[in-house]
Amino acid sequence: MTTTTTTTTTTAHTAATVLDASGVTMRFGGLTAVRSVDLTVREGEIVGLIGPNGAGKTTFFNCLTGLYVPTEGKVSYKGTVLPPKPHLVTKAGIARTFQNIRLFANMTVLENVLVGRHTRTKEGLWSALLRGPGFKKAEAASHERAMELLEFIGLEHKADHLARNLPYGEQRKLEIARALASDPGLLLLDEPTAGMNPQETRAAEELIFAIRDKGVAVLVIEHDMRFIFNLCDRVACLVQGQKLIEGTPAVVQGDERVVAAYLGTPFEGEPGTAEAAEVAAAEAAAGPVSEAQAPSGAADAADPPAPAAPADAADPVDPADPADPADGDPVTAAADAAEDATGRVDTAAEAADTTTADTDPSADAHSTTTEGDSK
Ligand SMILES: Nc1ncnc2c1ncn2[C@@H]1O[C@H](COP(=O)(O)OP(=O)(O)O)[C@@H](O)[C@H]1O
Ligand SMILES: [Mg+2]
Repeated sequence: MTTTTTTTTTTAHTAATVLDASGVTMRFGGLTAVRSVDLTVREGEIVGLIGPNGAGKTTFFNCLTGLYVPTEGKVSYKGTVLPPKPHLVTKAGIARTFQNIRLFANMTVLENVLVGRHTRTKEGLWSALLRGPGFKKAEAASHERAMELLEFIGLEHKADHLARNLPYGEQRKLEIARALASDPGLLLLDEPTAGMNPQETRAAEELIFAIRDKGVAVLVIEHDMRFIFNLCDRVACLVQGQKLIEGTPAVVQGDERVVAAYLGTPFEGEPGTAEAAEVAAAEAAAGPVSEAQAPSGAADAADPPAPAAPADAADPVDPADPADPADGDPVTAAADAAEDATGRVDTAAEAADTTTADTDPSADAHSTTTEGDSK
């Protein structure tokens, strides 16, 4: 059973463990948001974390990244137990993106990536501010690396644009580039395709494969089932804070309990979506009778007007859009508003916390969140 030198293999069973979370529990007062969850991610793997809204996925991420101190359990990265401090977790090699985009809106695209680079530069913030010796060289190297990353995500031509002027899908990509700037061994993505159109989602998929191919393991939360089952080597499903099942996409996809867990929250690719779309199409073809064109038969035949039938028929049929309510609202402002409800402050300093500086986990831990899922 002892594995020898398997440095380059991507075979899940023989690759080294990158992330090992065991018995992670997070309670907020009386609420247990995450209950005794075990999860590992190995080198070369893309692991998916799914589950209905409120299942505890984001809370689990927050426990992994030191934003929350888990009530119980421990989290190790490459064999070392992580201290629950975001900047130390980043330094150790775990980077993340957030469910609701957090960029420095008024900085350029390049500057945003440079911020993510901060943990990997020897020169501290003061050196940067004072332009001390060695700073210029470090700056040039950082600049080069940041441009490389922009090239990697296909945004090098927009390096000088302000982040807030990017379309939504590109902002999401930029967040990923910023996370990659800290040279992580594991990247955590919280709903990276929320609010994306199908083309952007496809591109995101390609990007995540490319990241994996560069040797970065990935743990991704997502609602879009087609996306997740296509992308991941392994998928775990959380329901009410507990891990319901973990396995290959085929196993998880076919599990009745997973389908049941999602009932009431239809998602793209869910069994039944095609049927629902067919019904909607049939209804649309039959055509809702508009008020202007009262059914001629009814009007002609009836001496006294028979208002009931035409009125009913005229009721515009809501072609109940089966399209994913879980899909995010592409309006960043709305997402920001939802994020603000978590008690976080949307400032440059705050965003810096996510990649570099210290954060007081208790500040987050005490706030009542409505994490952008209320969309
Ligand atoms: N800081 C917090 N304080 C109190 N309750 C929280 C906090 N963060 C999350 N919760 C609660 O924990 C549960 C899981 O939330 P979350 O992790 O955001 O779910 P998911 O990401 O799976 O949609 C929800 O009931 C949520 O209201
Ligand atoms: Mg969430």
